[in-house]
Amino acid sequence: MSKSIPEVTLNDGTTIPAIGFGTYALNGNVGSNAIKSAIDIGYRLIDTAYNYENEGTVGEAIRRSSIPREQLRITSKLPGRYHEYDKAVTTIQESLYRANLDYYDLYLIHWPNPKQDHYVEAWQALIEAKKWGLIRSIGVCNFLPEHIERLERETGVKPSINQIELHPAFNQEYQHKWHVEQNIKTESWSPLSRASDVLRNDQLAHIAEKHNKTISQVILRWHYQLGAVPIPKSASPERQLENISIFDFSLDEKDMKEIASLSHPDGRINDQDPAIYEEF
Ligand SMILES: NC(=O)c1ccc[n+]([C@@H]2O[C@H](COP(=O)([O-])OP(=O)(O)OC[C@H]3O[C@@H](n4cnc5c(N)ncnc54)[C@H](OP(=O)(O)O)[C@@H]3O)[C@@H](O)[C@H]2O)c1
Repeated sequence: MSKSIPEVTLNDGTTIPAIGFGTYALNGNVGSNAIKSAIDIGYRLIDTAYNYENEGTVGEAIRRSSIPREQLRITSKLPGRYHEYDKAVTTIQESLYRANLDYYDLYLIHWPNPKQDHYVEAWQALIEAKKWGLIRSIGVCNFLPEHIERLERETGVKPSINQIELHPAFNQEYQHKWHVEQNIKTESWSPLSRASDVLRNDQLAHIAEKHNKTISQVILRWHYQLGAVPIPKSASPERQLENISIFDFSLDEKDMKEIASLSHPDGRINDQDPAIYEEF
């Protein structure tokens, strides 16, 4: 069974599907089968990272699938410990070797790690790797506006994507609005709030009932209507299908406002504020 998904255009002219598939904690044979299942169901945008230790698993799922490589958009990410230019270049190559791919469609800096102060060098490496054809589009994750402004000021190149924590408990209203103004696409990580209490929220249950959908579908549709690209992870084919089946209904203005009201300043899952938090 396969679902057709709308595409969205990035500021470099390339397109990506309006929903992707997260792969955190999908490793080895079980992980590869789960990712292949997601591809069979219709996901075409697959999100991995050097630090997930599963770029090889994603590569294996691609080889097991009958979908041609060029119809897929594969994302990986540069870890914080390899921001220095030479290390970043080597890591991008290593990421490709691990997946046994010739190129990534998207490559992102995983965290800015502002105290280390090497993220501009890392960005320069991504810019060069794009020129060499190793990467089609480049972007960042967890960058605050001040970090992105510095990238543009020092290199002249703006990211196409910023992948940030975004879910009903933490809707990133200011940051997402800023992305829209800057023509940077927001990708939402942990879009289902990692299956937290949000999935049992009474207000969301009411909206879901009204549309004859599940709470997860309402949340993922909300991301889509905000203009953000969610990348839900699920190991289960049933939930993979559920999560992608969001293009046959619409939330009205009242629903959107009600979901916005669920957000609160301390709504992050693990209090990972990119101004302070660092990941290597
Ligand atoms: N850039 C970054 O810093 C960063 C950080 C975190 C995550 N990410 C990326 O974002 C992706 C998604 O985030 P995430 O994995 O943290 O969380 P998520 O997608 O919000 O939630 C995943 C959890 O929700 C469950 N789930 C999925 N669909 C469901 C449904 N329809 N009903 C009930 N439960 C459901 C999954 O369980 P089952 O598997 O059992 O279905 C899993 O426990 C990651 O996999 C990763 O690729 C990026």
